[in-house]
Amino acid sequence: MKVLSVASELYPLIKTGGLADVAGALPIALAAHGVETKTLIPGYPAVMKAVKKPKKVYDFDSLLDERATLLSARHEGLDLLILDCPQLYERSGGPYLATDGRDYPDNWKRFAVLSKAGAEIAAGILPDFIPDLVHVHDWQSALVPVYMRYAEAPEVPSLITIHNIAFQGQFAGSLFPYLELPGHAFYEALEYYGTLSYLKSGIITSHAVSTVSPSYAEEILTPEFGMGLEGLIASRGSDLYGIVNGIDADVWNPSADELLPSAYSATTLKKRAGNRAALNERFGLDADDGPIFAVISRLTWQKGLDLVPEVLDEILDAGGKLAILGSGDSFIEAALQGAAAYNRGRVGMVLGYDEKLSHLMQAGSDIILVPSRFEPCGLTQLYALRYGCIPLVARTGGLADTIIDANEAALAAGVATGVQFAPVTADAFRHAIRRTLRLHSDQRLWSQMQKQGMKSDVSWNRSGATYADLYQRLVSKGQ
Ligand code: ADP
Ligand code: GLC
Repeated sequence: MKVLSVASELYPLIKTGGLADVAGALPIALAAHGVETKTLIPGYPAVMKAVKKPKKVYDFDSLLDERATLLSARHEGLDLLILDCPQLYERSGGPYLATDGRDYPDNWKRFAVLSKAGAEIAAGILPDFIPDLVHVHDWQSALVPVYMRYAEAPEVPSLITIHNIAFQGQFAGSLFPYLELPGHAFYEALEYYGTLSYLKSGIITSHAVSTVSPSYAEEILTPEFGMGLEGLIASRGSDLYGIVNGIDADVWNPSADELLPSAYSATTLKKRAGNRAALNERFGLDADDGPIFAVISRLTWQKGLDLVPEVLDEILDAGGKLAILGSGDSFIEAALQGAAAYNRGRVGMVLGYDEKLSHLMQAGSDIILVPSRFEPCGLTQLYALRYGCIPLVARTGGLADTIIDANEAALAAGVATGVQFAPVTADAFRHAIRRTLRLHSDQRLWSQMQKQGMKSDVSWNRSGATYADLYQRLVSKGQ
């Protein structure tokens, strides 16, 4: 089966979060199920610089009035289709934000053009690659099924995966005429309280909708988590699927991770000490045995990290330390930087994005904190499981689905892999930290939990098969 995947970020080329990891790992997992994926991505500078010998495969004379060239290339096991359109993608900031931290004003066009290109590929402009199915991710490629439905290829099955319903791609209604869609598409698909919602239109026009964990699939049917789209999602009925993410077990493998000073496995956990020492040094933490808590995250309201300063004394009073890597909302950044400045040697912070350091933190710290208010899946807790770092997580979305709380029954059965708490309040968070510290003080129990986590299958094995089945069902239904 041939699948076109359309994504706005893709590990290892360009990444702001978990979407890149998933878009990069899924094609490799699916290859084992006979699925041949090509991924369409924008020709950002990082992409154009990294790929070797791209081949020109198509010239677009006009995608919403823009000229663009389609290139094909192979990169680290991935088959890429790159939309080279410098006037839209050759920018000095990130994939969505300019260097001043604001959205590019023409994001509506940058991702509509990407989507239109995707729909034309679905319609068969590349004789060597006529997709049997199109898989799109989040609002940035949500217009692909819209263009397919109204213009290009209504019969080709499409699947949209919602990685985060909080980001909907909402733009001024007055832009509609520039999207080159028939007038009736406005009310049928795109209109959202007078504005345009790309995500909404993708949910309406795709043949099926999935999200990245079973719990989140249920949560987005409720007003609390559906962010205004709960009714629409409910209307898709049994076309909604919740499939939990996996991780690339080669990129994240503590026994062969070249980014670590000291590789280790479940039978050589003592070797984590080498990573711990490097971590202490990098974050300016005292070289003692206190448990190290870690945060590796976007620093936004979603992630609940504004609560960390409120619960910090719970960690520090017990002789614990905290290492933070992240960037995001300025008030959360400032609060955490303040905590680091007041608690030198006990709290360290690296502001920014550092893939290599994130590996060291998973390998050298004891506990990863993921107190998210909502979390469609979450990947950092999965990397933590694989690295013998115990996840302390909020009981929501994919966190609830992937971590087994160390309650009495789970401990007795030897299946616990972490600690969960709810609701996401400072009180419940504090209580969970206390519970975690008690578990940590029992060395035998702790290493048993570490080993249990390292044993759990967080690879794409199961979910890869589930996606392959779903693809097959959608293709068969369309025939
Ligand atoms: P989200 O996609 O909502 O940000 P996920 O947990 O799904 O959350 O994925 C986050 C990904 O980004 C993980 O691979 C995590 O390691 C990585 N990450 C987040 N912040 C940073 C950072 N500051 N430096 C390096 N990696 C980071
Ligand atoms: C989103 C979600 C995160 C999920 C990731 C990959 O960024 O916030 O929970 O893991 O997408 O699906």
